[in-house]
Order: sequence, then C-alpha cells, then structure tokens
Amino acid sequence: LTDSYEALSLELAEAIGEQLKTTPSSAFGLPTGRSPLGCYEILAAWSRDGRLDWSQARCFALDEYLDCEDESMSFQHFLLTNLYQYTNLSPANCFNPKNEDDYDALIARHGGLDLTVLGIGTNGHIAFNEPGTPERSWTHSIWLTESTRKANQSYLKNGGTVPDRAVTMGISTILASKKLILIASGEGKRGILKKALLGAVTPEIPASFLSLHPHVTVLTDFDLDDEGQSQARN
Ligand code: PGA
Repeated sequence: LTDSYEALSLELAEAIGEQLKTTPSSAFGLPTGRSPLGCYEILAAWSRDGRLDWSQARCFALDEYLDCEDESMSFQHFLLTNLYQYTNLSPANCFNPKNEDDYDALIARHGGLDLTVLGIGTNGHIAFNEPGTPERSWTHSIWLTESTRKANQSYLKNGGTVPDRAVTMGISTILASKKLILIASGEGKRGILKKALLGAVTPEIPASFLSLHPHVTVLTDFDLDDEGQSQARN
C-alpha cells in the first residue's frame, strides 16, 4: 500500500532503477496502460538526467494490438513515446511480440525476463490474458473481451477503434520472469485485486496465477481492506 498514485509511481520507478543498477543487462517485461504512466515519467526524467543507464538493458512489451488502424494506437508507440525515447536504450533491444515469430524463444535467448511489471484489468486480466486463459500458455494471439476494449477505448484521444485482436505474453511467459511487480491504481481495482490475491487460483481470474510465483510484489494506492474511505485517486 502506498499513500498516493505518486508514491506508487515512485516506488515502482525505484524498483526498476534498482534492478537496472544492480544488473545493467536486465531484461524487463513492460506494460502499457494508465497505471505505469507516472512511473515512466519518473524513469524518463532520471534517464534524461543521466541517472539511469539503459545501454545494456532489454525491454519486452507485454502485449500488442493486432490490426491497428493507426500506428499511434500501438503499445510500441506508447512505450516509445512515454519511456524509450528518453533513455539510451538501443532500438535493437526494444522488443514487441507482434514483430517476433517466437517471442518466448527470443526471451529465452536473452536469458529470460528479470523483472516484469504488470497492470491488472477490472476483469482480472494480466497483459492481455483474458479470463479463461490457462496457466500453461505462452505468447499467443487472442480476441479481446468487450470490457477490455471498452476500458481501452478511453485511451484513444483522437478517436479510432480499439482492435478486436492482440498478441500477448502468456501466463507461463509471465510466471517464468524472475521477479514480478503487479500495480493497481484506483478504487475500481480493489474488488478484482482482492479476488486475485485472496481467492482461488483460476483461469477465470488470470491474475490469480500470480500467487503461484515466489517473488511477486503488489503495489496499490488504496487499502485492500478499506471499502469505505481511501486516500486513493479513482
Ligand atoms: P490500466 O490497465 O493500467 O490502464 O488500468 C491495466 C490493464 O488493463 O492491464
């Protein structure tokens, strides 16, 4: 639990910065969405100031739309404009599942993911592993659920329609990462996060598979038990 979205963002940025300093050649799994934006802003500032050296790091987008009508809607574009462009990451070290025949083999060739950051959808998805995704799933393409398409529609400031399909790391890909950080911002995520963390492990709530991993950190800006008031933004 952190006090605010700003505190959550700082804690996440510190964890990523620490990983980078300890192991400069780290491989990161990185999410898109509203939740990581504050963290990426901090990392961008630190990178511009020369406090972070990404020259040996590798970054793997968690997921990507297929059949995007406009490249500016893509998650690669999101990561480029919110983070990559402010760093000294080599473009050759920024990977995206849409561009690869075998993302899991590529990740393995890079020594596996060291730290993967995940958001959680209100339907319990992690990356684009929608409800019903089995634990034994590697990178694959999927049909997005209506609730995910609706949630993501609000990111598209210039109109445009959220695609029907996407490609995503699977649950096995994610669980193979050495460390995981799950971030959840806003009261709207409390119910699903509670189910994921405290309920049964089930494909119906893909985030529940995270309890099978030995090294998961969960960062929230709301109190999991506080149904009434909270300092969190919504
Ligand atoms: P959000 O998305 O960070 O925009 O809430 C999370 C997700 O859907 O995985």
